[in-house]
Order: sequence, then C-alpha cells, then structure tokens
Amino acid sequence: MSAISKISVIGLGYVGLPLAVAIARHVPATVGFDIDGRRVAELQAGHDRTREVDDEAMRATTLRSTTDAEDMRGSDMYIVTVPTPVDQWNKPDLEPVRKACRTVGEVLEPGATVVFESTVYPGVTEDLCGPLLERFSGLVCGRDFFLGYSPERINPGDREHTVERITKVIAGQTPEVTEQLAQVYGSVTTGGVFRAASIKAAEAAKVIENAQRDINIAFINEITMIFQRMGLSIHDVLEASATKWNFLKFQPGLVGGHCIGVDPFYLAECASQLGHHPEIILSGRKVNDAMGHYIADRVMDHMGPEKENARVLVLGLTFKENVPDLRNTRVVDIVQKLRAKGHLVDVHDPLADTDEAARYYQIELKRSLDGLRGYDALIGAVPHDAYKGFSSDVFDRLVSPGGIIADIKGMWRNLVLPTGRLVWHL
Ligand SMILES: NC(=O)c1ccc[n+]([C@@H]2O[C@H](COP(=O)([O-])OP(=O)(O)OC[C@H]3O[C@@H](n4cnc5c(N)ncnc54)[C@H](O)[C@@H]3O)[C@@H](O)[C@H]2O)c1
Repeated sequence: MSAISKISVIGLGYVGLPLAVAIARHVPATVGFDIDGRRVAELQAGHDRTREVDDEAMRATTLRSTTDAEDMRGSDMYIVTVPTPVDQWNKPDLEPVRKACRTVGEVLEPGATVVFESTVYPGVTEDLCGPLLERFSGLVCGRDFFLGYSPERINPGDREHTVERITKVIAGQTPEVTEQLAQVYGSVTTGGVFRAASIKAAEAAKVIENAQRDINIAFINEITMIFQRMGLSIHDVLEASATKWNFLKFQPGLVGGHCIGVDPFYLAECASQLGHHPEIILSGRKVNDAMGHYIADRVMDHMGPEKENARVLVLGLTFKENVPDLRNTRVVDIVQKLRAKGHLVDVHDPLADTDEAARYYQIELKRSLDGLRGYDALIGAVPHDAYKGFSSDVFDRLVSPGGIIADIKGMWRNLVLPTGRLVWHL
C-alpha cells in the first residue's frame, strides 16, 4: 500500500475493531477512534469484551486506540463503522453517523478518502455524509476529498466468515477511489473485492442482504405457527423440504440483534421517502417481532390457563448463540410477557454481561446453573454450546415432574429427555 500510510477507523465495536486490527497488519500507523472511553481503555489494556479479537491478537496489534480525534489527523483514509440503530418509532437514527462526520470533518485534510461501512439506505453516503463532511472541513467533496462505501458483512461469533476472509463489496466516488479501496481491502481479505457499480448500489446491496434474511425467516416463522395448529413439527417439515436442491434453508426463531431486525427499517424508510409503501419488508418485521410473545403464549397454554405464579427458567438472553451481544435481543419479549402474567422468571446466560442485562433490560442474570432446580417451565431460548449437551439429569433437576421443556431452537431435539415432562419445540 504505497500511497496509504495512515488509516483511521471511527467506531471500535463488533465491526470496527476487527477491521482496524486487520488493517493495522498492513498499515502499522492505523488509529482506532471511539467516543466511549471505557471501550478505549479496555482496548488499550489489550482486551476486547466482544470476543471478536482475541487477547493474543490484541497484544500483537500496532493499532492505536484513542478518544482524541486529533490523533487521526493526517490520515489518508477514514473508515466509519459507527452504529446505525432505529429510534423508538423504528425510524433510522443517523445521529451517530452525523456525529462521526463532524469528528472526521474537523480533522479532514485535502487528498483523503472517507469510507462508510455502517449499514445505511442508498443515498446516505453521498447525500447526507458528503455535505456534512464539507461543512465541517471547509473542503469540497469530489475535489479535495472523496467518498467510498464498503458494507460490512461479518457475523458476530462466526469464526469462518471473518473480515479477513469474506468478499468485500467496494464502491468509490471515482474509479481511482474504487481502485484505492480495492488496494486497501484487497490486502485485508483473502475473499477478494467486488467493485459495485456505484456507492448507492453498494449501500443498497448491503441493506437488502439483511432484509432478505428477515423476510425468509418471517415466512418460516409464519408456517411454523400454521403447522403447530396441526400438531406438525416444523423441523420434520423442513428436513423433508430441504432435500429439494433449491429450497432455502431457514429456521424459525427470534430475530434480534443489531442487523437483521433493524436494517429492514432502513430500507422501509428509504421506500417511504420515495412514496412507496413497503408491504413485504414491514410484514416480515411484524411477524418476526411478534415471535417472543407467540412463544410466551404457547408456554402458558401448555402450563394451563389456571397456572399462576409459575417458576420459569429461561436459558440464554443474547440475541444469538455463543456471543455476549445483548443488543436488540428479543428473548426479553418472552421474559416480559411471562412476568406481566405474574410468573416468576429467572434468566441464565453464561456469556452476556450481567451489568448490561440489568441496565438495559432490568434482568438480573444467573451466571451459574448450580443450585437451580424445580422449575415449572424451562425455556431453551438461545442455543449456546453450554446448553446443547445437557444430560437427562440436568433436565431432571431443573424441571419439576409435570413441567414443560420448551425448545425454541431445536437444540434438544435429538436428546433423550426425562419422562414425565412435556416437551414443546417451536
Ligand atoms: N455487528 C455486526 O454483526 C454487523 C455486521 C454488519 C454490519 N454492521 C453494521 O456496522 C455498523 C457498526 O456496528 P457494530 O455492531 O460494530 O456496532 P457497535 O455498537 O458494536 O460499535 C459501534 C462503536 O462505535 C462507537 N461510536 C458511536 N458513535 C460514535 C461516534 N460518533 N464516533 C466514534 N465512535 C462512535 C461506539 O462507542 C461503539 O464502540 C452498524 O451500521 C451495523 O449495522 C454490523
């Protein structure tokens, strides 16, 4: 990378940190900037609590983590990886992106490229970020500095599809910028780069990848509800259907997290701005967002409407298996619904941060299963590895005779469960 001697990454979360560490292997003068002092202190001490980068890689990296934007000054390239959440009305909250534009704009110097990796809808990079960068830098976009977009595709907890292995979609404001991005990202990943036709095409490509998953899962969730009325297991049905070469293999379940449950709202907002009411995209969201209540209702049906103050143990609170990430977890819908009906719900998770669970969801997490016993219902909500191999004795201890074992992700389908308990699979 001859022309590039300094790169700054803005936002050191699940996406930004692994990317910054990977880039620092090729560009030693890589700076990682974050507004969260606690996060930066932890990274400076050599630990990543998201577990995306292990302690050995943290020790070896030349990445300089900082909360001081001045440390980024003089960078040839700025890569923005800040969050893109939705607000309480499910509208895109672009405030972190706006603030990042201000931070970068204030240190931006002529000749630099600003690349966005945050998931957005088409137009945000060129129509919102470009003008903001101009305003805060006093420079002219397309003459003094240039824009790029390269969506992030990593999947938290997935050690196979890492930032160093996946195909990176890239798009620059000019062909020269696209080639610059090809050089930078091409050296980081062995998966190669794909030059999208335009920045808007790259933005659109990312947001539909996640909306497509959401809609496909919503379809499976809907047919799960239909087949349950017939006493038919969705897993038995899917196993048979999956033998067709072009059947799409999605599983039913809760859809949470920072991406799949959020990004479709970005696409929906874009559609609305263009005067198109998005039917399928919002229907998918509606079905998937209702799954937690559906599961809680089925558990209560099986306990019987007369059952009061039942003791329920929910296993797993994170939005997916084997990660500590609690963002937008929909397990809370199950917990809240059961509690609203007066049931006494304990929640266990071996990976989630107990402080975050208390702060964001008012849930006091159990860290150990030792000493827990005799519940009326056990809900296997998240298939963490720690839960998959439970012996019959564990179920025997955790669930009272006559109690319910609710297996949301089919993780116990092939286990021999103790007799005298009702087993329900989503
Ligand atoms: N997590 C994923 O699996 C994933 C995958 C693909 C794409 N994405 C997208 O990547 C983007 C980042 O997601 P994430 O999961 O890494 O988020 P995250 O919450 O893990 O990390 C974001 C980081 O940005 C910091 N930050 C917030 N505002 C800032 C600002 N103004 N300046 C500097 N730092 C700021 C936060 O303190 C945090 O450390 C989002 O747009 C997301 O949709 C995420």
